[in-house]
Amino acid sequence: MIIVYDSLTGQCERFASRLGETVVDILDYEDDNGEDVLLVTRSWDFGKVTDEAREFLESHSEKVKGVAVGGNRNWGTNFGAAGVKIEKEYGIELILKFEGSGFSQDVEYVKDWINKYKERVS
Ligand SMILES: Cc1cc2nc3c(=O)[nH]c(=O)nc-3n(C[C@H](O)[C@H](O)[C@H](O)COP(=O)(O)O)c2cc1C
Repeated sequence: MIIVYDSLTGQCERFASRLGETVVDILDYEDDNGEDVLLVTRSWDFGKVTDEAREFLESHSEKVKGVAVGGNRNWGTNFGAAGVKIEKEYGIELILKFEGSGFSQDVEYVKDWINKYKERVS
């Protein structure tokens, strides 16, 4: 499983790099070996999905098995709302919402999800 991250100020990139898998910037992604993808993206502008994530999903959503979304609780009901939209619009499981570059338990939770996913498909 490859981790594709969408990050402007580095928080989602840091979260992605803590998951112990290969990571790639969403802008550099090339679908050359067909590996399953976990997308780490961020909420933007009152809970919107970023243009980068949308463009990526329009071409590659069938590869994406789960999404973890970064955000900030100061945004109230829009906290991590991009992840909810991705789940609804593209049928991709929202694994979790996290703040900043994530607490250790957030990282462990997603690592655990990845391991269980690998077991399911092996
Ligand atoms: C202009 C702007 C809009 C944002 N809108 C939201 C939002 O609607 N919901 C949310 O949860 N976080 C929102 N955030 C917070 C970011 O999603 C959060 O800081 C995230 O960690 C940024 O990830 P990055 O450092 O990888 O770019 C916003 C941040 C900025 C600067």
